[in-house]
Amino acid sequence: MNTPILFLHGFPFNGSLWKPQIEFFQNKRIVLAPDLRGHGSGPKGNAPWMILDFVDDLHELLVKARVEKVILCGHSMGGYVALEFIHKYPHLVESLILVGSRADADSNDVKDQRFKTLEKIRSEGLENFADDFSKLVLSDVRSEEKKELKKTVQNMILSNDIEDVMMVIGAMASRKDSTPILKEISCPTMVIVGADDRITSWGVNHSMARRITNCQFAKVADAGHLVNREQPEKFNALIDTFINYQSLSFKEFADGYTNNPLAIQH
Ligand code: MLT
Repeated sequence: MNTPILFLHGFPFNGSLWKPQIEFFQNKRIVLAPDLRGHGSGPKGNAPWMILDFVDDLHELLVKARVEKVILCGHSMGGYVALEFIHKYPHLVESLILVGSRADADSNDVKDQRFKTLEKIRSEGLENFADDFSKLVLSDVRSEEKKELKKTVQNMILSNDIEDVMMVIGAMASRKDSTPILKEISCPTMVIVGADDRITSWGVNHSMARRITNCQFAKVADAGHLVNREQPEKFNALIDTFINYQSLSFKEFADGYTNNPLAIQH
């Protein structure tokens, strides 16, 4: 049987972030795209939350579903969770895909930004934050199609409980530096990033990819942070190719690939 794929969404979205991927992969393998802790219908548990709590939620989910190995794909905050998951349960991960994420912890400046966001949400509610953030995660919102996508993303944000959103911000701000984990990763890995990602950047993702031994890297044009929604066909093709040809060398992989991944020089 094909190995199931487990998609982990970013903050503050939910499993439906992966709609185009669910539709594409569901006829090929089992697709799991749960709402993570504090998002949508995800688990809550006792406060405060740490990224390790998200990891344990996922482990429980896999045990319940009797899944012994997954292809693990984490977007942004989902990537923070994926890195701690592979550190704790390396035997459960057949291959890893990190999307628009990063391995390091928040700097003091980023923590300050988070605290400002918390204050803003506390005093104004989620509306303004949802409007600003849904613009920030897309490369542009000019076309009708992109306006529609922005609305979808905004509604996803607004469907969260305000207290939960604030707790997840705390969990992200207190996460540890996962950079040392990168050199432990031995399974085939791929890093994908939108060329216009304004939450992280393609450079941050490229240097993360360079620290992983067996890693492919792809920078996707005309996409921001939500690369899987802005360029779903390219994104699905990238993952599909990676899953099917992960045992090939980079050159073989790149030759059979339509986009323009940058080779990783180790
Ligand atoms: C995400 O998309 O998951 C978040 O923006 C990540 C973050 O704020 O660090």
